[in-house]
Amino acid sequence: MSRQIQISPSILSADFARLGEEVRAIDSAGADWIHVDVMDGHYVPNISIGAGVVKALKPHTSKPMDVHLMIAPCDRYLEDFAKAGSDMITVHAEAGPHLDRSLQAIRDLGVKAGVSLNPSTPETVLEYVMDRLDLILVMSVNPGFGGQSFIESQLTKIARLREMIGDRPIDLSVDGGVNAQNAARVVEAGANVLVAGSAVFGNNDESLYAANISAIRGE
Ligand code: DX5
Ligand code: ZN
Repeated sequence: MSRQIQISPSILSADFARLGEEVRAIDSAGADWIHVDVMDGHYVPNISIGAGVVKALKPHTSKPMDVHLMIAPCDRYLEDFAKAGSDMITVHAEAGPHLDRSLQAIRDLGVKAGVSLNPSTPETVLEYVMDRLDLILVMSVNPGFGGQSFIESQLTKIARLREMIGDRPIDLSVDGGVNAQNAARVVEAGANVLVAGSAVFGNNDESLYAANISAIRGE
């Protein structure tokens, strides 16, 4: 089955001193979404950026801001990220304490709601929240850092989630270690959104971004 593939470059691998320019560069290089990794140094062992950066970057792109919250507890920050201009907010299944409530809160803020599953988290945690979801983000590395290797066991989870989704309008995204070499297998397993940090930004040579994005897309 052929699906429209969306590429969501993760700005975690961008040059943080030039983030606005980097976002404009991936936007014009063919990015479909802009993936923003928010880390709190508590839920994951790294600290990155907050809602103020989402707000500052918003005028630099017309592409949807795909905001991945690796923070716990997440609820008290949802409004800040919605107001900052997030088009979708993804929380981790464990970031609760009440996933169903968090998902309702995101949609009530007028933003698309996503859940991310760590490599060890089974897809079954989503069984009773499927109708509250716009996006499922399968982590194919342990969250916290860019540049790690893709964990192959997640291909099975992707395939199972594609079955669970059925004909619901839910995007199935994969994040971590995705590159031009494995992207086709990830798509074949059932993903329709590919997040990629190092495979897009490489050494931050923006003349290569369009070719890097095309290569992941399989063009
Ligand atoms: C990891 C982040 C990813 C990361 C992906 O915690 O959620 O979005 O930036 O980077 P690569 O593509 O380099 O694995
Ligand atoms: Zn991410």
